[in-house]
Amino acid sequence: TTARLTVDPRFPIGAVRRRLFGGFVEHLGRHVYDGIYEPGHAEADEQGFRRDVLELVRELGVSMIRYPGGNFVSGFRWEDSVGPREQRPRRLDLAWHSTETNEVGLHEFADWLDKAGSELMLAVNLGTRGVLEALDLLEYSNVPGGTALSQQRIDNGRTEPFDVRVWCLGNEMDGPWQLGHRSADDYGKLAAQTAKGMRQMDPSIELVVCGSSGAAMPTFGEWEREVLTHTYDDVDMISCHAYYQEHDGDIDSFLASAVDMDRFIEAVVATADHVGAVRGSDKKIDISFDEWNIWYQTRFHDVDQLSGIDNWPVAPRLLEDVYSAVDAVVFGSLMISLLTHADRVASASLAQLVNVIAPIMTEPGGPAWRQTTFFPFAITSRLAQGDAVRLRVEAPTIDTVKHGTVSAVDAVATHDAETGASAIFLVHRGRGEAVELAIDVSGLGDVEVTEAHVLHDDDPYARNTLDDPERVGPSTLETRLADGILHVTLPPISWAALALR
Ligand code: AHR
Repeated sequence: TTARLTVDPRFPIGAVRRRLFGGFVEHLGRHVYDGIYEPGHAEADEQGFRRDVLELVRELGVSMIRYPGGNFVSGFRWEDSVGPREQRPRRLDLAWHSTETNEVGLHEFADWLDKAGSELMLAVNLGTRGVLEALDLLEYSNVPGGTALSQQRIDNGRTEPFDVRVWCLGNEMDGPWQLGHRSADDYGKLAAQTAKGMRQMDPSIELVVCGSSGAAMPTFGEWEREVLTHTYDDVDMISCHAYYQEHDGDIDSFLASAVDMDRFIEAVVATADHVGAVRGSDKKIDISFDEWNIWYQTRFHDVDQLSGIDNWPVAPRLLEDVYSAVDAVVFGSLMISLLTHADRVASASLAQLVNVIAPIMTEPGGPAWRQTTFFPFAITSRLAQGDAVRLRVEAPTIDTVKHGTVSAVDAVATHDAETGASAIFLVHRGRGEAVELAIDVSGLGDVEVTEAHVLHDDDPYARNTLDDPERVGPSTLETRLADGILHVTLPPISWAALALR
């Protein structure tokens, strides 16, 4: 099988914003405790953060990290998480039926981000709280000094403000599982009031309003329209959340999951633009795709096992999916989808980072290792520079139950006019034969291939585990460049990245 692709940097989609390669840390399961933070571990630094985990987080290349939830935020009192540790209360976390000790809070997490080289994105609680508490957290975080809450921050050890740029107005407020779940009308009004107040204090912040928790939600589309009708002038972005998994052995549909992500993004953009058109507004609302990943747990399956008024464990094992080679291929294709929409997806957060549906796993007292999904993220984050560039793709098709007929090959490129560096990201989502690609790169000028990686395993269900942590990883892809045509062969079910300069 063959396919022909053409890349021409004269037709850019938009600038690749670093925030596209964001992450998400929720107080959930073993993410914070026994994940990034394990004071007794041999790798722990003076603050109790695992150095081996920090090193992997840096290698992953995550830009901005959303915190502290997730469903967790809808019951969170931020004041609990600051001040002297010994005075911090232990609280019930209703979202994950756990105990939150507040041993790690805002200050510790900000310190951890400084070590990781990532930016903080904060979510406010609009589930059980409202405008006042959001304003208090903003004052505590961003006001330099001279007021009660900014002084409290200084007394707690941070002289300089946290200066948080991007804020989420709650989390998944359309979901019946969400503490304080509301109708679009009720949430839209609350989000608008909160946004207006926050901007009165700090007009320079960027605000994300909650979109749908998934394109399959019964309120999808209408939710976005109604919420944006209330908030259009007061917010910058609307969120999208999407998780994919293989259902009932339907691997073809699973492999084509990015088609669903494409349609999801395009539907939200169309809805936002519709609201703008009705209002006669020139303003464009961008997307914060602030939760995306592969997730196999039937929603909250393992938290359902936790129950009892006297049973609220600290850091139980929850949502610890172990990813396969095929998961990593689909994961890479989701990153292609995000890049393909770089004009409107201003920010994205891989959900999540450590132990909880995560690219990095740890064992208490033991090692930290890379899941299969680590590789497409790290490589894409490192190589995607400059502008995203659409490719013309002429390839065979695949019939899928869920997404109809889709191209077997999907691709996106990036080009940095300043450095001359380009990259091409490719996925072969067919499982039959290899496909020989002829990629016309003559538009990139006189270039050479500087890196070529392929992620494929003859056993699509091979995984990296505690016992065999390096079972799956990228290998070098053979390339041949002649007369402006780059020849590569992609094995079935594979993801690849090429760097040219
Ligand atoms: O990422 C896990 C959970 O998925 C988040 O807490 C929630 O926002 C979503 O439903």
